Amino acid sequence: MDDDALAGTRVLVIGGNRDVAESLRAQLTAAGSPSVDLVPALDLVAAQTAAAQPQVVLSLGDTDPAAVRARLDPLGLDAAPPVVPVAELAGDGEALGAAGIARLRMLLEHRAMRVRLGELEAIVASQALSAFRDTEVIRVDTLERLARAAEYRDDNSPEHTQRVAALAARMARHMGQDDRMVSLIRHAAPLHDLGKIAIPDSILLKPGRLEPEEFEVVKTHAVLGARVLADGHSEVLGVAEQVARSHHERWDGDGYPDGLAGRDIPLPARLVAVADVFDVLVHERPYKEAWSVENAAEEIRGGAGRQFDPDVVAAFDGLGAGSWTAGFESS
Ligand SMILES: [Fe+2]
Ligand SMILES: [Fe+2]
Repeated sequence: MDDDALAGTRVLVIGGNRDVAESLRAQLTAAGSPSVDLVPALDLVAAQTAAAQPQVVLSLGDTDPAAVRARLDPLGLDAAPPVVPVAELAGDGEALGAAGIARLRMLLEHRAMRVRLGELEAIVASQALSAFRDTEVIRVDTLERLARAAEYRDDNSPEHTQRVAALAARMARHMGQDDRMVSLIRHAAPLHDLGKIAIPDSILLKPGRLEPEEFEVVKTHAVLGARVLADGHSEVLGVAEQVARSHHERWDGDGYPDGLAGRDIPLPARLVAVADVFDVLVHERPYKEAWSVENAAEEIRGGAGRQFDPDVVAAFDGLGAGSWTAGFESS
């Protein structure tokens, strides 16, 4: 079992007989939980929760989770920790096992993600959206601040989002897009991974391969980012929303989140898809070495008509190696 799956997670266990509760405490402690409080009866739960500040309350035996919730959050303010029946996590009996611990961790991470997304939406709502109604200068400035926040969370490549934007804009120009569209793509593309702000560090920054359920969480960054950028009252925000939502779609329809194919995928997202993959390949990440420029370009060419729009790949090729890694100052 992953012995730090619950690192930093304080737990309160309510109900059950003493032996079952103690055995659950041993399992949670072995999984890294720094504090596991046992509460035998419902009328003690509010005081114990106030004292121990758990991140999650597990209910055992015939303890009714709804009754526990009513004690912890009588006004329904959604301020109390979640109350989870152990039987729901364990599936069978009251021993959690590795699968039960993993389920508990995923549940807590989803909750943390929702909290972060809520905070992010509040920031955007209070600052960005009002600013977007003002001048174009403020629009672009605010977007770049959001892009920097996204960039900060995107693995170890602080300039990744800017390089992707610059390459996407160069390819757009090469394909004959007008100045306006090139500029929209240049300013919207850095936001492609904005939704990663809401993905827990334990997943986003994990070295090595992700478990399938962790990858499902990472995939949500596309929709989360688009949700933050939706209804923004400006053209550049509209393009940023398309890019955030659709930059992991594939030309053959096997991508996510909508399974769009071909030209149903908005062009700015098709451009960012190529620029993003190329940039990730040629730089080191926690889970991989940097590829050579030639090998990365071969991979992009090999994806034409399957992962990538063939016209975008042709533009990529047309630009040539000097342009692929020209940096982001000149675009
Ligand atoms: Fe992404
Ligand atoms: Fe990216």
